[in-house]
Amino acid sequence: MQNIPKNVFTFTIPFIIFTLISTTYAAVNSTTYATALSKSLLYFEAQRSGRLPYNQRVTWRDHSALTDGLEQGVDLVGGYYDAGDHVKFGLPMAFTVTMLSWGVIENGDAIKKAGEFEHALEAIKWGTDYFIKAHTSPHVLWAEVGDGDTDHYCWQRPEDMTTSRRAHKVDEANPGSDVVGETAAAMAAASIVFRKINPHYSHLLLHHAKELFEFGDKYRGKYDESLEVVKSYYASVSGYKDELLWAALWLYKATDNVDYLQYTIDNALNFGGIGWAISEFSWDVKFAGVQILATQLLMRENNKEHKKTLEEYHSKAKHYICSCLNKNNNGTNVDRTPGGLLYVRQWNNMQYVSSATFLLSLYSDFLKSTNQLLHCPKQSSITHEQILGFAKSQVDYILGANPMNMSYLVGYGSSYPKRVHHRSASIVPFRDNKAFIGCTQGYDNWYGKVDPNPNVLVGALVGGPDFEDGFSDDRGNYVQTEACTYNTAPLVGVFAKLNELEGIEEGPKDYSFSIASSK
Ligand SMILES: *[C@@H]1O[C@H](CO)[C@@H](O)[C@H](O)[C@H]1NC(C)=O
Ligand SMILES: *[C@@H]1O[C@H](CO)[C@@H](O)[C@H](O)[C@H]1NC(C)=O
Repeated sequence: MQNIPKNVFTFTIPFIIFTLISTTYAAVNSTTYATALSKSLLYFEAQRSGRLPYNQRVTWRDHSALTDGLEQGVDLVGGYYDAGDHVKFGLPMAFTVTMLSWGVIENGDAIKKAGEFEHALEAIKWGTDYFIKAHTSPHVLWAEVGDGDTDHYCWQRPEDMTTSRRAHKVDEANPGSDVVGETAAAMAAASIVFRKINPHYSHLLLHHAKELFEFGDKYRGKYDESLEVVKSYYASVSGYKDELLWAALWLYKATDNVDYLQYTIDNALNFGGIGWAISEFSWDVKFAGVQILATQLLMRENNKEHKKTLEEYHSKAKHYICSCLNKNNNGTNVDRTPGGLLYVRQWNNMQYVSSATFLLSLYSDFLKSTNQLLHCPKQSSITHEQILGFAKSQVDYILGANPMNMSYLVGYGSSYPKRVHHRSASIVPFRDNKAFIGCTQGYDNWYGKVDPNPNVLVGALVGGPDFEDGFSDDRGNYVQTEACTYNTAPLVGVFAKLNELEGIEEGPKDYSFSIASSK
């Protein structure tokens, strides 16, 4: 990404225009969800940094960044490149892994049925193996390798990289409770995923998660105040309190130790967990995720004594869901494009859409298992089918049911973005041409080409259309054509769920929320 913060934390005041959209867009059927699921997992292989394994399926990529950490005497080889560049940014990488893990925890059986379980585990483990390396002592976490400024000056394949690979850490003197909290959450969530399959690994992850949480809680601070290099790229605008609540809840889920639950109850108010009514969920702002996780705990008998506070979290979760459904009072709903897509902001809007589809699907599950209806300020008695139907409408839009008739999931369907803002996808594969391509040579010879990228970045979800459903497939248009790992991550579980449902009961039928759209 360019050197403007990826997330500008502002509130927009929507004005409501009701538009009836016709449903003449291409239909999306169940085989498509299975295909989308398979493709989405390939994307994580394309983003791999480090030494690639024998079974690497994305073969236009090769080994890269094999000396990461060397300057600092630490082995930081591995992990994921964030987007179209080659910086390893700890905060969004950890959020990506948390979301992948949550998707597997909630939809593991559906992912198995689609034959993608192994690939999903590999995608998670590629991240957690790296976090284990990055957590070199109880109170040290390496939070970034490389830096945006020097990285963005070059347009190179990762295999040729000549930019600085300096590593940056947080520690007691330079705290970063947000990146530490998110990494704790990712490792705790992944420990649940691996509990039965690989108990030793699961135990190791949990050990790191507990230590990290203790570190992040005891030495409090925003990581962008400790690390100048993250400021222009992934500043933690919402602070670290959401990540601490999030980490504590994940640790509670992973351990059943009530101390972690008590932490989220005791800090519910002063950390904003039950104060913030919010309509976005992202690598920066976790409150809606915290609120949905807390809501799920209401289903457990043993949490009765905390019911009152958990219900307060639930009430804020409802605010988030109602705002996505456009059923809150004026001014607190998420905008929509005329084609019906949730619209939070111009730059990489799809990240908010994919994270919303995931939370909507979980809330739908919650209503179903507790036999409840959702009551929003502008409409009461909303069913779990309606909520899932709305999530499905967003997924279908992503896959091509939209005014551009284009899939925003790369490599899916017949029409998709061909000029993704992505260094290695836009340059001849290393496998075919090993001749070194220098820093600015990539800009001169590849960046400005009007031809499609030589490599298809299958499974990447790009930034997506503007507020009027328009999209310009131009490599320089990074606001729309760049993809990030945390865009695709929440979709993995949702694709699996929709695939399973279509197979069993032909899916949700009530699309009432997908018809009326506001902008
Ligand atoms: C909300 O917006 C609608 C449509 O513009 C308007 O008719 C209604 O009066 C507004 N309600 C409030 C409470 O502002
Ligand atoms: C999308 O497909 C519909 C239905 O086939 C068609 O009417 C419309 O013109 C297409 N839009 C674009 C931008 O190609």
